[in-house]
Amino acid sequence: MNILVIGSGGREHALCYALKKSPQCKELYCAPGNTGIAKIAERVKIKPTDFDEIVEFCRQKHINMVVVGPEAPLVAGIADFLEERGIMVFGPSKAAAQLEASKAFTKEICKRAGVPTAKAETFKDAEKAKKYVREQGAPIVIKADGLAAGKGVVVAMSLDEALAAIDEMLVDKKFGDAGAEILVEEFMEGRELSFFIATNGEKVYRFGTACDYKRVGDANTGPNTGGMGTYSPGDMIDNDLREQIMDQIINPTLDTLREEGIIYKGFLFAGLMITSEGPKLIEYNVRMGDPETQSIIPRLENDIIDVMLGHAEPKFSDKTAVTIVYAAKGYPEEYEKNTIIKGVENVKNALVFHAGTARKEKNLVNLGGRVLGVTAVAETLEQARKIAYDEAAKINWPEGFYRKDIGVIYG
Ligand code: AMP
Ligand code: GLY
Repeated sequence: MNILVIGSGGREHALCYALKKSPQCKELYCAPGNTGIAKIAERVKIKPTDFDEIVEFCRQKHINMVVVGPEAPLVAGIADFLEERGIMVFGPSKAAAQLEASKAFTKEICKRAGVPTAKAETFKDAEKAKKYVREQGAPIVIKADGLAAGKGVVVAMSLDEALAAIDEMLVDKKFGDAGAEILVEEFMEGRELSFFIATNGEKVYRFGTACDYKRVGDANTGPNTGGMGTYSPGDMIDNDLREQIMDQIINPTLDTLREEGIIYKGFLFAGLMITSEGPKLIEYNVRMGDPETQSIIPRLENDIIDVMLGHAEPKFSDKTAVTIVYAAKGYPEEYEKNTIIKGVENVKNALVFHAGTARKEKNLVNLGGRVLGVTAVAETLEQARKIAYDEAAKINWPEGFYRKDIGVIYG
């Protein structure tokens, strides 16, 4: 098969790594890809949202399957557009992508499917929202309805924080249209787990679990980020919990979508809170996670193409993977670009997945905030953690940093 991957991050690097290993993969392309991906796939200069150009490229290169990494092209309808033109896509339709694009849509589906999730009310009017928040009290969670690049969620520990967040979204329009409607949600207490599914629309396979470190600072301090590190599998997962999640959350959601005429296919990412009352849904994403993918893929032992086609269930090793994200100092706020990164070639006992890198006059430099993911796989979490940190230390990047506690379990 000739395959085109859409995207340019560490997640796409990991997906390319798995696809490249498949004996079924003939030519592998990635649009637009990155410096690391260039070593295993041919980069294509097309933006993920240029659908016409993607179709043109697929026809020229006889692409048999397009694998979509990020949510933006999915939400914009890339799967529908390509499939209407006879090109197979591993990724959900625009209708199905509402699971990520609209929190209100997801709440409605969850309500009908009986999926356990936080109690929520939607508001467009700031005064009504504030009245409700005063009644409910803190802690409470305020969310922009639409896509806000992961920044549209405020977990307010005090009433003042909650009221300020309502003003920011509904009065100051901080997130524009994405925040024209907000959700006020019950605060759920527990531990978070990222839970993944891969489905061709008929077969529904579990595709691994991971724990993500979302805050920028050690001991989970500082602002939220896209994810500063992960380990896989999640330490709290066992057969009982796995079955509970499938029976109470994933299957009812997919069945309810099907009743609406929406066949979900592609990866599905359930962000869960494991509470004392059992697993509850925080949110769905219609794609793999980043950096979760960088921890999950290295544990995959069989052919990812068989999984995508619905020919075989994924098999994961019993080992544990730890991924440390190397980010530019200042991230998630302002950071310097084009700073030189040395020593990546010294990493021998771990995988390095690129995200925001570029080549400039023979040097590897950073373009983005989250730049490299260093993944080690070992028998235990402790061992994987040690190897990952030993290997990350071989990279010489004075303008970069990473959290020192990826793999430490906070109860
Ligand atoms: P989201 O963008 O929906 O993943 O939310 C970002 C983060 O906010 C999540 O990873 C959780 O840590 C936290 N969060 C979101 N919703 C809730 C909730 N209802 N209760 C507690 N924490 C939440
Ligand atoms: N790591 C969380 C995400 O990919 O959204």
